[in-house]
Amino acid sequence: MVELKTPGEIDAMVAAGAVVARALAATRAAAVSGVRLAELDQVAREVLREAGASSPFLGYQPSFAHSPYPGVVCLSVNDAVLHGIPTRRKLRDGDLLSVDCGATLDGWTGDAAISFCVGYTSAADARLLERTEAALLAGIAAAQPGARIGDISAAIGNVARDAGYGLHTDFGGHGVGRTMHESPHIPNDGRPGRGLRLQPGLTIAIEPWFLAGGQDAYRIDDDGWTLRSTDGTRGAHFEHTIAITAEGPQILTR
Ligand code: MF3
Ligand code: CO
Repeated sequence: MVELKTPGEIDAMVAAGAVVARALAATRAAAVSGVRLAELDQVAREVLREAGASSPFLGYQPSFAHSPYPGVVCLSVNDAVLHGIPTRRKLRDGDLLSVDCGATLDGWTGDAAISFCVGYTSAADARLLERTEAALLAGIAAAQPGARIGDISAAIGNVARDAGYGLHTDFGGHGVGRTMHESPHIPNDGRPGRGLRLQPGLTIAIEPWFLAGGQDAYRIDDDGWTLRSTDGTRGAHFEHTIAITAEGPQILTR
């Protein structure tokens, strides 16, 4: 079941999305060489606490995981791209960090992710970051009322293919609102003109994640969560929660 939200409900999601954006900005500002991932989780926790928001990540246990998620952010470093756990690992200059964060405020949830390098950024990383964010923006641009889910998927997949990156249709975007994961699923590749028609009031998270090596293979660590490339190449992940409105897509996690 796909639930369409009223304009008032979308306003409430804007407030939740603003908390997510603040937590991501604070985490990014704190992500310097020598800082431990667990310390970054604390930074995000403090932003959520001050806002009176709760974390949809903390304690989350989907069917693929053997243990509840232990943090309020996912912190994925270098060859890890999704669902990295905030461990005692220290960041080093040149690390590529992906930060994924959610917040629930007054019963409404936002979900967003950013990726960046800590200090030194190689040309290859700069391109990977730029192209992955471009895929997110292309996906958002395709999310027009009257278009279809497949238009979003195809827009994302085309950016990955043109860049020669590996992409996977597992762990794509999703409906979001009263809970973090709602219908529909938004695969990161697909065929234009196919799938659910996008109507005003639909609220979704769009989240491309690409692997620089060009292979689509990944593995999950023994922790049951951390998703890495099998060839050791780096990955990047960008995500926004958006609403489809009569005027076009509206980003809720700015
Ligand atoms: N953006 C991620 C997703 O939609 C957030 C889930 S992280 C988890 O899958 F830790 F909560 F699982
Ligand atoms: Co998400």
